[in-house]
Amino acid sequence: MVKEVEKWWNDAAPWFQEWAKLSTKSADYGPYAPRENQLKLLGDVKGKKILEIGCGGAQCSISFAKQGAICTAIDISKAQLAYARKLIEREKVSVTLIKGDIQTLKGIKSSSYDIVFSAFALQYIADLTKCFKEVYRVLKKGGLFVFSYDHPLYYVIDPKTKKIRYNYLKTRKLVQNETWSDRTKHKFVMFHRKVSDIVNSVINANLTLLEVHEPLDMKNKIKDPTVYPEDLVRLIGPTIIFKAKKK
Ligand SMILES: C[S@@+](CC[C@H](N)C(=O)[O-])C[C@H]1O[C@@H](n2cnc3c(N)ncnc32)[C@H](O)[C@@H]1O
Repeated sequence: MVKEVEKWWNDAAPWFQEWAKLSTKSADYGPYAPRENQLKLLGDVKGKKILEIGCGGAQCSISFAKQGAICTAIDISKAQLAYARKLIEREKVSVTLIKGDIQTLKGIKSSSYDIVFSAFALQYIADLTKCFKEVYRVLKKGGLFVFSYDHPLYYVIDPKTKKIRYNYLKTRKLVQNETWSDRTKHKFVMFHRKVSDIVNSVINANLTLLEVHEPLDMKNKIKDPTVYPEDLVRLIGPTIIFKAKKK
């Protein structure tokens, strides 16, 4: 399963980075969501140890490092990490990059991070609860876990026809979403979960859920009407954000 995801992201990395055009000024939670400098879910990160899981081009970690955080960022895709490495060099900051599967967090010491952060990456992993138990393990007591996710309702609607295309109530693996099929030669894999599945994974990992946000900021655009037509975006909002704590 991880191999399928890895292959797709290795192939997709160059066009994804060109398509998403993510800023390194403030962490981007996802399409049409306010950035961290508006939401302020992490608080002051100066001197904080932050682990970013599913970092892609590491733009979020770079923004935290610019504010004085000590950052480690993990991704499964060597192509995404290669992009991240160049960007870190260009931005003249320090971020430790690790290639690995975020479902295991192998090699990361227990109780060693103040914050675990993830933007728009957890919809690609098969076992969310396993990942969240690992997040719990590596967080210090009182540490925060802030993550964003494709809003599970957004993918239920076909962006072209605006009709319902998937059963929201059926948790499952989605393969070859037609929107992406022409972009790489590999199959696109993501996991559809209900909001309750995500919340229950947080609870089952012994983390305490503090906040859930379903924000909309029409200014933080991805200009691609095949995936994000603005009339649909306005009605659902493609990004959901969770904040939890290790008590
Ligand atoms: C949509 S990108 C998000 C990246 C970044 N946070 C951003 O906002 O651009 C999803 C990332 O998750 C990574 N990913 C997916 N499954 C993973 C896994 N099991 N372990 C580590 N990284 C994974 C992919 O390689 C990809 O870079």
